[in-house]
Amino acid sequence: MSTDKTNQSWGGRFSEPVDAFVARFTASVEFDKRLYRHDIMGSIAHATMLARAGVLTDAERDSIIGNLKDIQAEIEAGQFDWRIDLEDVHMNIEARLTDRIGVVGKKLHTGRSRNDQVATDIRLWLRDEIDTILKEITRLQQGLLGLAEAEAGTIMPGFTHLQTAQPVTFGHHLLAWFEMLSRDYERLVDCRKRTNRMPLGSAALAGTTYPIQREITCELLGFEAISGNSLDGVSDRDFAIEFCAAAALAMMHLSRFSEELVLWTSAQFQFIDLPDRFCTGSSIMPQKKNPDVPELVRGKSGRVFGHLSGLLTLMKGQPLAYNKDNQEDKEPLFDAADTLRDSLRAFADMVPAIKPRREIMREAALRGFSTATDLADYLVRKGLPFRDCHEIVGHAVKYGVESGKDLAEMSLDELRRFSDQIGDDVFAVLTLEGSVNARDHIGGTAPAQVRQAVARGRELLAAR
Ligand code: ARG
Repeated sequence: MSTDKTNQSWGGRFSEPVDAFVARFTASVEFDKRLYRHDIMGSIAHATMLARAGVLTDAERDSIIGNLKDIQAEIEAGQFDWRIDLEDVHMNIEARLTDRIGVVGKKLHTGRSRNDQVATDIRLWLRDEIDTILKEITRLQQGLLGLAEAEAGTIMPGFTHLQTAQPVTFGHHLLAWFEMLSRDYERLVDCRKRTNRMPLGSAALAGTTYPIQREITCELLGFEAISGNSLDGVSDRDFAIEFCAAAALAMMHLSRFSEELVLWTSAQFQFIDLPDRFCTGSSIMPQKKNPDVPELVRGKSGRVFGHLSGLLTLMKGQPLAYNKDNQEDKEPLFDAADTLRDSLRAFADMVPAIKPRREIMREAALRGFSTATDLADYLVRKGLPFRDCHEIVGHAVKYGVESGKDLAEMSLDELRRFSDQIGDDVFAVLTLEGSVNARDHIGGTAPAQVRQAVARGRELLAAR
């Protein structure tokens, strides 16, 4: 990067070059150059519109568009000399255009400002990122459906307070993650609508005196609507904050999911195996296989929460309209999108490879009196009030703790010590299968319900 000359785009009113450190301090090109494709897309649409409005000739338009495409090829071939003295991606590209075609290149910026240009670029960029992220969510959800279907009848302990609560099916547990991701998907689709509005034409802040036709650029760029106020158009970044909020929620879900994978792969649980390719070893402890991918995703959630808070703070004191503060929107936004996309990608690759250890899950469900509620419900069906049943079963559990027996391991005589209402039909109720099959309603854990939920899930994904 060179830092010589006075800036050619605004140097007119300046009598000395910008201090070298200030040039570096105020420049954004190091990070905003990743907007180059969307910047060129916006410029091509702008030039097309200017020609239709009679501001550029057709020949000027063609020269601008052809050369912008060549510049894009230069960038993609790694042959573009990004200059820090040209501050940002916008002025780097415009300066290169002028290098190539002289005075015609200087006409591109007619009726436009970097303020509406950058606001347009970020929206175009974020729209594409959202689309990629939506695809990754769908891929992860497909993996969850496949695993849930295969494990619809696999029984594990369900937890509250991380204490054994009631038996659930592993498929049902996996579908809880499917539901959360469906809401994440909806939030991003909704955020995309507000991202997909066009600020171009707002110019610096007040609009422009040229006969621009914003409907044309709107259509060329595939925006759903034109921003209704130029001051708001150049300064608003709430779409970026909204994206970070949706990303933070999705990362929070992935972080909780990660925590379960970390627990389940531990020697204490051993509920699942993760293939070696998603884990790493320890340089000192030869026995170790660490669940790095879930741990990292859990850790990375923190940076996305931070970006949400950072962007809110960036905006909160800004008067209308554009302020240079807004240049600080990019790094957090880029990182939030990169982090969410990569975390989803890692999960989408990993989830179908999860190997459940069905016997161990089942053993765990047999311990911890997971069918105690079923015994209480059984006594209710025999005509006792629920509170009394709760107490009766409490005594039975106490006896079980002391004698080392689970409820299903007690004899009928033993059980009848706690209530004479108990008959030998009780054992069907105390089995794990009896327990999960009994929860046979929409949203319940019965294997039949899990299979129906998988079918509904498949329909949902097919309609996207
Ligand atoms: N690099 C700037 C940004 O990201 C572009 C807009 C600059 N506008 C200005 N008036 N200095 O916000």
